[in-house]
Amino acid sequence: MKDPEGWFRAVYSDIPLTTQWDDGSHTGDGLGNTPSSSSSQPHMVFSMLKDLDVRGGHRVLEIGTGTGWNAGLLAHRLGEENLVSVEFDPVVAEGAAENLRHAGLSPRLVVGDGRKGHPEGAPYDRVIATCSVREVPGAWVEQTSTGGVVVAPWGTLYGGEAIVRLTVQGRTASGRFTRSSAFMRLRQQRADRPPHGAYLKGRKWPADGARSTTALSPADVGGWVEQFVIGLQMAGAFWTVERYGDGTYTLWTYSTDTLSWASADYEPGAASFDVVQSGPRRLWDETEAAYRWWEGRGRPGFDRFGLTVADGREQVWLDSPDHPVPAVG
Ligand SMILES: C[S@@+](CC[C@H](N)C(=O)[O-])C[C@H]1O[C@@H](n2cnc3c(N)ncnc32)[C@H](O)[C@@H]1O
Repeated sequence: MKDPEGWFRAVYSDIPLTTQWDDGSHTGDGLGNTPSSSSSQPHMVFSMLKDLDVRGGHRVLEIGTGTGWNAGLLAHRLGEENLVSVEFDPVVAEGAAENLRHAGLSPRLVVGDGRKGHPEGAPYDRVIATCSVREVPGAWVEQTSTGGVVVAPWGTLYGGEAIVRLTVQGRTASGRFTRSSAFMRLRQQRADRPPHGAYLKGRKWPADGARSTTALSPADVGGWVEQFVIGLQMAGAFWTVERYGDGTYTLWTYSTDTLSWASADYEPGAASFDVVQSGPRRLWDETEAAYRWWEGRGRPGFDRFGLTVADGREQVWLDSPDHPVPAVG
């Protein structure tokens, strides 16, 4: 440790600390590296623990051991015999075991794919994931007792993410989103985003695209809640931004099947924006319809949305389970 005081200051700051980049294939010297393990932001860790609402005697399963900090907090609170924590990356898991040993704790640490939970230790009263998911793995619900709680960061492919707090009843789990979050994705649910070249296929823009204009600014769809809401309604869609250095940019939207794309050009202060769309899906029209749906309901924040997981099917709803968020397109 080159700078113990710097590390000490860092761990007592309310920031996330990346401890691994690119699944350990890189040392994290700056540009182009993707964080793949971290010590989460303390504020977020404590908010999620509040959502988890553990009581003495509870058995807890954690997915994503990382540094072992959250596992240590839970083991300290509940007794190390009541905590199981699963980490996919063996090197990260080894580091966590060492960190916990230094703190005088040795809870059950499992190296493996957290999607499977840890059936040997079930049933659990609480399950907490510290990596985000696009789909709640069925094993987490199955391994939680009725009345138990699953807390997990849940996000869409398009973007936007929030913590969901599900109460389990048999094979069904349902509950509301509690707060905005931005976790690293569970490794096996990372997005598969084909490259730009897979869409225009060597043709020059606008290729066969149909031109139109829109009054909805591409800048208006970029907020975290907006992305979440659009992502709920537009399955299999994602976006990138191409910036031109003068404040203008193109928002590109793509379908993962590589059949459809749309470009929407942003210009500061403009009232109308140029759009080009190609393929069987009209992706800008879908984006606009999804945004208008949200606008028409009073621009709800994350806490008005909820999720129900039943027999492997997921449904996000607004205000109550009988108001499912509809799909567009
Ligand atoms: C934000 S870090 C966890 C922070 C940790 N709870 C702490 O207190 O330091 C997310 C962790 O999830 C792990 N992870 C990703 N996919 C996983 C999977 N399928 N099963 C178990 N762990 C996984 C990553 O390797 C990473 O270490």
